[in-house]
This record gives sequence, structure tokens and C-alpha cells, in this order.
Amino acid sequence: MKNKVSGGLSNMDAGNRLTALSLLLSAVLSPGLCIISPAEIDPLLYEEQLLWVSGAQGQVNTYRIPLLTFTPEGSLLAFAEGRKSSASDVGAKFIAVRRSTDKGATWSPTSFIIDDGLQPDGLNLGSVVVDEEVGSVILIYSICFHQYLCSPSSTMMVESTDDGLSWSPPRNLTEQLGAKIFVAGPGFGIQKRYSPAKGRLVVCGHGTIEGDGVFCILSDDHGRNWYNGAALKSIPYNQKKKPQDFNPDECQPVEMKDGSIVINVRNQNNYHCRCRVVVRSYDGGLSLPIDNLFFDYALVDPVVAAGALQKDGVLYFTNPSNDQHRINLTLRWSLTNGTSWENKAVQIWAGPSGYSCITSLDSGSPEDRKYIFVIYEKGHKDYDETVSFAKIHLYGGR
Ligand SMILES: *[C@@H]1O[C@H](CO)[C@@H](O)[C@H](O)[C@H]1NC(C)=O
Ligand SMILES: *[C@@H]1O[C@H](CO)[C@@H](O)[C@H](O)[C@H]1NC(C)=O
Ligand SMILES: *[C@@H]1O[C@H](CO)[C@@H](O)[C@H](O)[C@H]1NC(C)=O
Repeated sequence: MKNKVSGGLSNMDAGNRLTALSLLLSAVLSPGLCIISPAEIDPLLYEEQLLWVSGAQGQVNTYRIPLLTFTPEGSLLAFAEGRKSSASDVGAKFIAVRRSTDKGATWSPTSFIIDDGLQPDGLNLGSVVVDEEVGSVILIYSICFHQYLCSPSSTMMVESTDDGLSWSPPRNLTEQLGAKIFVAGPGFGIQKRYSPAKGRLVVCGHGTIEGDGVFCILSDDHGRNWYNGAALKSIPYNQKKKPQDFNPDECQPVEMKDGSIVINVRNQNNYHCRCRVVVRSYDGGLSLPIDNLFFDYALVDPVVAAGALQKDGVLYFTNPSNDQHRINLTLRWSLTNGTSWENKAVQIWAGPSGYSCITSLDSGSPEDRKYIFVIYEKGHKDYDETVSFAKIHLYGGR
């Protein structure tokens, strides 16, 4: 905690000096109680490391679609698709995982937790959701999402109850959800921490081609049973789209402190603006009324999956901040629940950059309050060259 002092102490009156002294003393005597205010947020890229490099690791051609989450035990888990033979969205893939138990300083070697074999249209990520009430981590992914030389499309789930070390066999959720062309996220799902529907798991994603839109699947029993919740359908629904049609696509939900869920959405056909669509659910993900939808002109976007996080009352957002190209990966933050954004955005990477996902640790310790973590697609010529992990010090810039 630093006071800005211009011209030295001589300009300060006795009252100010006393305040400065007591602030200094309280900071020195009880660092654990020194809560930095959100107004002092001034993020600094603190350290960064590449978790995956495309083309350089054996059986994988391209790593894409990075997800990042905290775990109930305070570890970090990073996931990505390991695309076996090309950079294409279709084709056979692994789900790659790395794990950090020291707040992102070091990472386990890559393990492949799912291998879809030789499928022409294999798996797609996906959302990771942490159930803090029972201490589990759930990963939702799809098989045959594009229905390229395969059918039907399936929504699948795997679960870890040991902090991401081992994973259950895949479960096919088609029986519970019905036949559905759906891919979650990509990003994280949430467990509701506040009412309504405290404890509910909410995973939102999108449909495909004609049947696109934002759809949420919900579970009120820690992932045993899933059912279909809110739908925000594209227009015209189930019909071929034209440029500038309303076509909400990949999305990231976050829970706000009033218990509402704000979903930040990819605006696939640039309806109304080259910017993000934002829609809000006040009933725990059961509905997404059009009355609660707006276009966030400040969040200029090249049509991409973006990252969002609500931490200690501050809303964070990452995307390649450019209306044409996937370059300029930028972190923004809002002190007003997303109704406005601070002017001082922080550039994480100027060059090619694509999908991103944000998380943070939340033990309540002063240390954990200071950092957020961003995983994103990063390259020099193309954004899919590497997947990078960035540790951001929220108060590091001052
Ligand atoms: C999931 O279950 C449905 C319905 O039984 C089935 O048609 C589909 O092939 C299954 N998907 C996978 C990947 O096993
Ligand atoms: C990068 O993003 C910032 C913040 O949105 C913006 O002001 C700047 O013009 C962008 N630069 C490029 C090259 O897109
Ligand atoms: C943001 O939302 C919280 C929770 O509803 C509320 O207490 C706070 O006043 C809001 N902040 C602003 C600036 O609107």
C-alpha cells in the first residue's frame, strides 16, 4: 500500500501525516489484514510459461482450446485439446492435462486423460466445473460435435475426486439430456455460491450451424443428474445464417455477488457490432430473457472464445482485443459489475492470440487475493503455436 507523495512530506499537514503513519504501521504490523482496495488494481504480467507447444510433442499436431481451473485443494489444472493430425476442429484428439500444486510455479508432465482413437470427428472441449461442496472436478466435452462422418453428437462427462490426479471413465449424458448437438464453454462452468439455487452446477455452451445459440445444462445433485436449462437461440433458428444474423456462440458464465449469472458470449455473425454479447440469468441458469441482453461496445472482439472471472467483486475479461484479427490479448477489469470497464487495459501479448480462460485461487489468504491466472493461445505467426500460462499480479503495477 503506497501513498502517492509528490513534492515530499513537507506539503502534508499533520492530519495527513498521521493517516500515512497509521496506514504504514497497520501495513507493517498486520500485513494479513491489509486489504488492498479494488480501486488500486493495476495488473502486471508477473510470470509466464508455455504449457504446450504445437508440433513439438510426439503424437500431437496442435494444442488448442485451453481451459484453466482452481481445485478444491488449491491446485491449478490446465486442460487442452491435443489434436492428433492437424489443427482442424474435427479429427481425432486427446484431452491433455497438467497440474500445479504450487500456484502455477511448476507443472506436472502432460497426461492424456481421454483418447478418442481415430475418430473422423472426435472430441471437443469443453467446460471444467468444480463442485466445492463435495470436492470434485468435472469435465464436460463433446464427441462428434460437427457430425462430420459420424452421428449422433454426444455430451460426455468425466470426474476427478482426487484433485485431478485420476479420472472416472467417461459418462454419456445423452440419456439425461436427450439427443443434443452441444459443446460446453469453452471455459469453466460454475457452482452457484449464492442463492438462487446455491450449489447448482451450471455449464453453458453452444449448439452448431443452424441450431446455434447459448444453452445451459444444470445439475442439482453434484453432477449425477443433468437437465436442460436456459436457451438463448439464434435467429433464424434451425435455418441457414447470413452475415450479421443473431448467432450467439461460445460463452463464459460467471456468478455475480447478487447471485445472478452473467454470460459473456461470442457474437458469431457480428450482429449489431463487432463486440461481445452479454446476457444475464437471475434464476440460476433456467432462463436467459432477451430483456437482460446487451451488446458491450467496450469489448471489441474478432469473434472468438473469451475469458471472464468475478473475483472479490471485480469482473475480469480477456480476449484478443481487435475487431478483425486474433491479436492483442488484453486483460480488462470492471469495478461496476460489467456496466463499465476501467480505461487502463493491460496487454498480455501483442501478437497472435486466440482463446483464453481465467481462474484464481480463493483460500481467502492475502496472497491468493493478489493474483489471477490466464491461460491462452499464443503465437508469433499463428495463435495456435503454443498454449501459455500467465500469472497476473493484480497490484503489481504500483
Ligand atoms: C451416447 O448415447 C447415445 C444414446 O444411447 C448413443 O446414441 C451415442 O452413440 C452415445 N455416444 C457415445 C460417444 O458413446
Ligand atoms: C489492443 O487493445 C487495446 C485495448 O482494447 C486497444 O486500445 C488497442 O487499440 C488494441 N491494439 C490493437 C493493435 O488492436
Ligand atoms: C455490483 O453488484 C453488487 C451485488 O449486487 C452490489 O452490491 C454493488 O453495489 C454493485 N456495484 C455497482 C457499482 O453497481
